[in-house]
Amino acid sequence: MEKETLLLPAFDPVEDGETIALAGRILREGGIAAIPTETVYGLAGNALDPEATKKIYAAKGRPSDNPLIVHIAELAEWSPLVAELPEEALVLAKRYWPGPLTIILPKSPLVPDSTSGGLPTVAVRMPENPVALAVIRAAGVPLAAPSANRSGSPSPTTWQHCADDLMGRVEAILQSADCQVGVESTVLSLCQRDMDGKILPRLLRPGAVTLEQLRETLGEVLVDRGVLEQLEAGEKALSPGMKYKHYAPAAEVILLEGGTLPYRAWLREHAQPGDWAICFEEDLPLEAVPARSYGRKADHAAQAQKLFLLLRELDRLEAKRIFVHSPQRDGVGLAVYNRLARAAAFRVVELSGAGE
Ligand code: TXA
Ligand code: MG
Repeated sequence: MEKETLLLPAFDPVEDGETIALAGRILREGGIAAIPTETVYGLAGNALDPEATKKIYAAKGRPSDNPLIVHIAELAEWSPLVAELPEEALVLAKRYWPGPLTIILPKSPLVPDSTSGGLPTVAVRMPENPVALAVIRAAGVPLAAPSANRSGSPSPTTWQHCADDLMGRVEAILQSADCQVGVESTVLSLCQRDMDGKILPRLLRPGAVTLEQLRETLGEVLVDRGVLEQLEAGEKALSPGMKYKHYAPAAEVILLEGGTLPYRAWLREHAQPGDWAICFEEDLPLEAVPARSYGRKADHAAQAQKLFLLLRELDRLEAKRIFVHSPQRDGVGLAVYNRLARAAAFRVVELSGAGE
């Protein structure tokens, strides 16, 4: 399926208006294109056109039962996509949109099965990135966009990552700034109700809009088991994306949980040639292995922003194993931990011994 892929500069929504208009036309006419968002780059196509969504699955090499997030630029585009818009959804949108929050609701007949992965529900988000908003407006249709990586590899946070994965497989790649957030949006389902008809919000994927923020806005929020644990064989994933080994680099990733001193000691004892570390700033220098820092221990935003970039870099350097100093699980740290636990296929070593 070699295609000619256009590289379109789109750093500024006004100055690059012409290339953004061209991207909009490509998308409206059924093509697919990698576009920037504040979380990760997305592989966009017309969400209402089953042929376009088929192209997305094919370019990613992704199973077609995995539903896609629909991206909108105006609140008014939401109600035609869903069966109803409950108060809770509007409160969330008012507070967190545009931004890294995806809201799942029962879908309307307008949304094709190929977009919802055959589910009766649809995931919608309004991104904050001004270029993303400009592309959606230029296309004039809501855009389905999963992360713009080949299935199984880490999500792309730079346009070069998209080019590495998708040259020759898509009509266009927008060349734009690196992603600010670095991990995918928070996914929240509002599809479940209790016996009194009250919505029971459920977190399916943690992201930069944190569980703490969602609880402050909505009260009780359930956390899906798949967020922190591996699902048992045969267990049904509420969010089908959680079924697959995800976010995985080629190297074997192992999470080490504990303070700096036990982390260093463990590496001294176990590291072999070909091993690398992704550690906190405070852990440096590490004598036992070559290392990259992903930020200070308390700086979850920095860790989120660097994580996928570093996993890709260490793949290029042919790391065999990567020992990652595990992040704390509060705030955005929960999202960082969730992505790492998946990349590590849930191999987590709890370090014994005291010492920060
Ligand atoms: O930040 C993001 O959300 C990025 C950017 C491009 O917007 N997109 C993204 O899409 O991460 P993707 O396809 O890589 O992840 C979508 C996740 C998957 O885990 C999928 O299973 C889940 O959302 N999802 C989508 N629609 C759903 C639905 N109707 N019910 C349950 N889970 C759904
Ligand atoms: Mg993805």
